[in-house]
Amino acid sequence: MAQGSWEPPSGLLRFPPSEQVLCGHGSNARCLQCSGRETLEVAASTHATFCRAFSSVAYFTRPTQGEVSKLAVPQRSLAAGEILFASFAALVLQVLRPGPLEMFLDLGSGTGRAVVAWALLVPGGIAAGVEIREALHETACEVAAGLDPTVQQRVSLHLGDMFHCDGWGDADVLFVNSTGFEAPLMRAVAKKLQEETKATARVITLSQPFEEGSMPGWTLVHQSPYRMTWGNDQIFTIAEGR
Ligand SMILES: C[S@@+](CC[C@H](N)C(=O)[O-])C[C@H]1O[C@@H](n2cnc3c(N)ncnc32)[C@H](O)[C@@H]1O
Repeated sequence: MAQGSWEPPSGLLRFPPSEQVLCGHGSNARCLQCSGRETLEVAASTHATFCRAFSSVAYFTRPTQGEVSKLAVPQRSLAAGEILFASFAALVLQVLRPGPLEMFLDLGSGTGRAVVAWALLVPGGIAAGVEIREALHETACEVAAGLDPTVQQRVSLHLGDMFHCDGWGDADVLFVNSTGFEAPLMRAVAKKLQEETKATARVITLSQPFEEGSMPGWTLVHQSPYRMTWGNDQIFTIAEGR
């Protein structure tokens, strides 16, 4: 994971819509899922740095029985399926379009793919994550330790329960990869978001929106399917009062 004397490639890398969402047609056709999507351009060095950092890190790990019995949270919520770079980059650069220095908080950060991607994609962007599974947190810390110091200094990773983590009120974008979250957990997240986030914050959920009525005053600003390791999944972005 150390950078060593490795030189990242230069130039731009293009991710066409077919890399952002899976469709059952040829590359020249368009369907409801992919129409309106643009080819994403990312610095080849950013993508190469991300791939290199996570080259030996699995995309999905089930919790061990030890983790399940030790952690007082529903077992389903501990399953760690992680974002794909092209989909996350498309969400960040084409939908969220954060300003420089915006702060990202990943609530359940796993091995840190979304956290590291944000720090690499957003100039000066601050990226924080909180993860309850110690083994995943440790992997994320190892990955972060191998990043260039200018990126590393903008990344912070915390071990613990997201509900005991400070920072909800500082974040500009809060990310909840909620695929395995059951209704009571979604309600608890919604309650804490209502109480603590700043008025300009945006919140992302995966696979499911918040229950109707659980985020009064917030509006859905974007919803689209994105390609994940297991197929397409919906990503929802909400913001207050728009
Ligand atoms: C589906 S993974 C997402 C990983 C990462 N955010 C990504 O999208 O690439 C969800 C993560 O949330 C973690 N998690 C579940 N409940 C949590 C809690 N109460 N506090 C902190 N992390 C939690 C799980 O252990 C798991 O690693």
